[in-house]
Amino acid sequence: MCGIVGYVGNKDVLSVLLVGLERLSYRGYDSAGIATLAQGELFVRKEVGKLRTLGAALEGKPVRGELGLGHTRWATHGAPSQENSHPHTDCSGRIAMVHNGIIENYHELRQQLMREGHIFKSDTDTEVMVHLLERYLTPELNFLDALRRTLKDVRGSYAVAIISEMLPGSIFVARQGSPLVVGLGADENFVASDVAAMVGHTRDIVYMEDGEMAAITKQAVVFYNVAGEELIKQPQVVEWDTTQIDKGDYDYYMAKEIFEQPTVARSVLSRKLGPGGLINLGDLGHFSKADLSKVTRIIIQACGTSWHAGLVAKYWFEKYTRTYTEVDISSEFRYRSAILDPSTLVMAITQSGETADTLAGIREAKSKFLPVLSICNVEKSSIARESDGVIFTEAGPEIGVASTKAYTSQLLAIYLLTLYLAQVKWTLSPEEVQTKINDLKTIPGKMEIVLAQNDQVKRIAQRFAHSRDYIYIGRGFDYPTALEGALKMKEISYIHATGYPAGELKHGPIALIDEEMPVVCIATKGYWYEKMLSNIQEVKARKGMIIALGTEGDDNLARLADEVIWIPPVAEDLAPLLTALPLQLLAYHTAIKLGCDVDQPRNLAKSVTVE
Ligand code: M6R
Repeated sequence: MCGIVGYVGNKDVLSVLLVGLERLSYRGYDSAGIATLAQGELFVRKEVGKLRTLGAALEGKPVRGELGLGHTRWATHGAPSQENSHPHTDCSGRIAMVHNGIIENYHELRQQLMREGHIFKSDTDTEVMVHLLERYLTPELNFLDALRRTLKDVRGSYAVAIISEMLPGSIFVARQGSPLVVGLGADENFVASDVAAMVGHTRDIVYMEDGEMAAITKQAVVFYNVAGEELIKQPQVVEWDTTQIDKGDYDYYMAKEIFEQPTVARSVLSRKLGPGGLINLGDLGHFSKADLSKVTRIIIQACGTSWHAGLVAKYWFEKYTRTYTEVDISSEFRYRSAILDPSTLVMAITQSGETADTLAGIREAKSKFLPVLSICNVEKSSIARESDGVIFTEAGPEIGVASTKAYTSQLLAIYLLTLYLAQVKWTLSPEEVQTKINDLKTIPGKMEIVLAQNDQVKRIAQRFAHSRDYIYIGRGFDYPTALEGALKMKEISYIHATGYPAGELKHGPIALIDEEMPVVCIATKGYWYEKMLSNIQEVKARKGMIIALGTEGDDNLARLADEVIWIPPVAEDLAPLLTALPLQLLAYHTAIKLGCDVDQPRNLAKSVTVE
């Protein structure tokens, strides 16, 4: 994973790099480092831990710089340590490099370089690249040629940025498989893993493609292809709004993003719904209504929370469009030789649009000549750009590592797609579609009602915060919510939590239940409700502590539960859009009570850009 940033210009280099790194810390935060050049001299500083450690170290002992690079790391090769932090330098200490990606053949290259006398200081795969560059920087080869030779030797993925004392006015960059964007300014230029690092500085962005390199100076950016030929690349104007990447009045991005959900839902619905049952999903690219009407099977591939959104989609697609739907975890899909025939619609669901396994899943489908339709939050992301059609979820930037508003906006997009498919396949009548749209329009207001129970959820979270485990159960539409609630709990509070379809409980997991086990029972009113009540009885009979999540006014449920959280009455198929919210709050308040960093939980990164 990792995030890289580079800047050359007249602004305070250090502060541009540190702000950029802050915005990229969703990509990893095991360590952070910078390298600058001032009057031809290279300075490198790096610290293990979150960016604030580096910030504090630099405050005590600042460095000068006319240009520089920054890196925030999610450790792959080599533990988080000072030596393994980026930037890495060559033997002479005159070249510094930052890297996002994985060099697969690093071991053999390292052995070879060591035999040639190169001294390695870290366990990373990255360091071989900087030594290779050093090897090729001979009087006969210029910097770019040496970089091309280096890139020819390595196998794997990279976005790299390099500065050196030999060419003190330039940043050299290259991309293969990891994202890299260049920002153009007046007498200044930027490079980063993501546009977020440049927000506030420029809107003119060039997206680099695999196999491309660039030489960036204060006055110009020159792009090259693998053959070293110059390329003309047009910048795109990117819209951004700085309030979207501020915490506002909240202590954590996660809290802000949880409470943004009604606003996001309102805005998505107002943009995607028109009069008379009109559903506007945006530009579906390759996918015409005629194509979609012929789809007989859907395969969804996604990871984590996005996979849970896919599980909800299965219930909706099968029930309302009568289309057989499979939901795969991308890391399985990409390797399992799935049967893909021309009537199969392959879908990807992703917040970031950069998840390595999901991207590989798309490439796998495309290699079999199947177009891919994606549900994605980030425009211009790799997945958005490689898909044949994209429905954007329009949730705005999500910065907290735990996915919250991205999830409910994925559900909204999928529900609208369900209705759209039902229209083109005539599996629902226009009246049925209209009724569902009317129900959907009540969701933002109902989300507000759910969030108004924040204090109640906080109290429950504090009561159970010292539990060792949590179990979440649900049936039907409530089952994926159980998985999602458990994922939220474990990723930010480090309490072990597992979600099950409630009917599975007695096939094993019920053995875990005793008087110390909180069991979150999602039991909204609908088709599965009675059966769910029986499952809750079974938990109660084994003295489990029942935290029920049900439909307001349900006295039976209230009587059974130790604690209860309500959602307002809602069409049963729309319950996942409401039930997710209190479970996000439950995890959030638990993590806060336990003193965890909810926005940057240990070992995680927002965007999983390595396999
Ligand atoms: O960006 P993506 O939606 O592709 O990311 C997928 C997962 O990495 C992500 O949902 C992850 O599980 C979240 N941290 C869950 O909160």
